[in-house]
Amino acid sequence: MRIFMFSLCQLFILVIGNLVVNAYIPAVPTNDSAKISASVNLSDLSTIQLAWYPQGSYETTVSHQLVGSGSSGVNKGAFVHFSENNLTTDTTTTPWIALVACDFNTSTSSPENDIFTLARARGAVSALLYSEWSEACIINPEYANHKDFDHPIDVFSTKSLPSSRIITSEFLTINQTLFGDFNAERLNGSANVINETLATNVVPSSSYMFATLTAAANITNSTSTNTSTGSTPSRSSGSKASMKTEFVLIVLQVITGATVVVFG
Ligand SMILES: *[C@@H]1O[C@H](CO)[C@@H](O)[C@H](O)[C@H]1NC(C)=O
Ligand SMILES: *[C@@H]1O[C@H](CO)[C@@H](O)[C@H](O)[C@H]1NC(C)=O
Ligand SMILES: *[C@@H]1O[C@H](CO)[C@@H](O)[C@H](O)[C@H]1NC(C)=O
Ligand SMILES: *[C@@H]1O[C@H](CO)[C@@H](O)[C@H](O)[C@H]1NC(C)=O
Ligand SMILES: *[C@@H]1O[C@H](CO)[C@@H](O)[C@H](O)[C@H]1NC(C)=O
Ligand SMILES: *[C@@H]1O[C@H](CO)[C@@H](O)[C@H](O)[C@H]1NC(C)=O
Ligand SMILES: *[C@@H]1O[C@H](CO)[C@@H](O)[C@H](O)[C@H]1NC(C)=O
Ligand SMILES: *[C@@H]1O[C@H](CO)[C@@H](O)[C@H](O)[C@H]1NC(C)=O
Ligand SMILES: *[C@@H]1O[C@H](CO)[C@@H](O)[C@H](O)[C@H]1NC(C)=O
Ligand SMILES: *[C@@H]1O[C@H](CO)[C@@H](O)[C@H](O)[C@H]1NC(C)=O
Repeated sequence: MRIFMFSLCQLFILVIGNLVVNAYIPAVPTNDSAKISASVNLSDLSTIQLAWYPQGSYETTVSHQLVGSGSSGVNKGAFVHFSENNLTTDTTTTPWIALVACDFNTSTSSPENDIFTLARARGAVSALLYSEWSEACIINPEYANHKDFDHPIDVFSTKSLPSSRIITSEFLTINQTLFGDFNAERLNGSANVINETLATNVVPSSSYMFATLTAAANITNSTSTNTSTGSTPSRSSGSKASMKTEFVLIVLQVITGATVVVFG
C-alpha cells in the first residue's frame, strides 16, 4: 500500500511537470503591413493605461484581438511578463495581466495548451501580446475562430514596434527582479496594494506596474451562438478544455489505472 501511495505521488508530479512545460503561443510575429492591416485593427481605440509608483503613468491605443468569455471589456491588474519558461502551477487570486511576447515558442512547446489558457488558469484577467523585434503579432486564424477555440480572456495586441518598445521601456521603471515576471506568491503578497490601486488607479507604494486594458467596442463575439457547455465535438488539436479539467481528467485516469493495477 505504501508503494502504491508513493507511485501515485510520483505520477502526480509527472503529470504536473508535463502540464507545466507544454504550451504554445497561438501567434506569429510579422513585418508584413498587408498581414498586419488584415489582422490587427489599427484604428481600434481600445487602450492600455499603465500606472506605477510613484505617480508614473502612460496611455496608448492597442488592438482588441480576442473577446474573453464573460468579458466586461475593462480589465485591471498587475502587469507581468508571462511565458512557458520556468512555469509552475501556482495560482493567485490577485488580478494580473499577462504580457506575452509572440516572437518564439519555447523549445519544449506543445500544441496541448495555449498560453492564454495557462494564464487564465493561474488567475490572469487579460493579456497583451507584443513583439520584441517585429512590427506586430498575428494571431493564428484558426485560434482566433471562436468555433474552434474558447477564448478564456480578453487579448489585446500592440499596433506597432515603436508602440511595443515604449510599453516595454516604461515597464523597466519598476524593479524587474521583484515585479517583472509572474510570481503567484508575490502577487498574493501584494493583494492589498493591487486592491487599493484597483480602487484609486494610483499605485500607493513600490510594487507592480498596474495596467488597465479597456475595449473600445465589443468585437464580434461568435461564441454566443453555441458554446454553452462545451459539448461541441473537439475537432482541433488545441485545448478546448481548461487546464483544470484536463488535470482532473488525467488524475482520474491515473487513479483508475492505479486502482486497476492494485485490485485487478
Ligand atoms: C522584422 O524586422 C526586424 C528588423 O529588421 C527583424 O529583426 C525581425 O526579425 C523581422 N521579423 C520577422 C518576422 O521577419
Ligand atoms: C476597429 O476598432 C474600431 C474602434 O474600436 C471599431 O469601431 C471597428 O469596428 C473595429 N474594426 C474591426 C474590423 O474590428
Ligand atoms: C461588451 O459586452 C458586454 C456583454 O454584453 C457588456 O457587459 C460590456 O459593457 C460591453 N463592453 C463595451 C465596451 O461595449
Ligand atoms: C528560466 O528559463 C530560461 C529559459 O529556459 C532560463 O534561461 C532561465 O535561467 C530560467 N530562470 C530560472 C530562474 O530558472
Ligand atoms: C507556436 O506554435 C504554434 C503551434 O504549433 C504555432 O501555430 C505558432 O505559429 C508558433 N508561434 C511561433 C512564434 O513560432
Ligand atoms: C530590486 O529589488 C531587489 C530585491 O529587493 C534589490 O536587491 C535590487 O537592488 C532592486 N533593483 C533595483 C534596480 O532597484
Ligand atoms: C494565493 O492565494 C490563493 C488564495 O488564498 C491560494 O489559493 C493560492 O494557492 C496562493 N498561491 C500561492 C503561490 O501561495
Ligand atoms: C479589496 O477591497 C475591497 C473593497 O474595495 C475589500 O472588500 C476587500 O476585502 C479587499 N481585499 C483585500 C485582499 O484587501
Ligand atoms: C460572448 O459570448 C459569451 C457566450 O454567450 C458571453 O458569455 C460573453 O459575455 C460574451 N462576451 C462579450 C464581450 O460580449
Ligand atoms: C445550439 O445548437 C443546438 C443544436 O445544434 C440548437 O438546437 C440551438 O438552437 C443552438 N443555439 C443557438 C443559440 O444557436
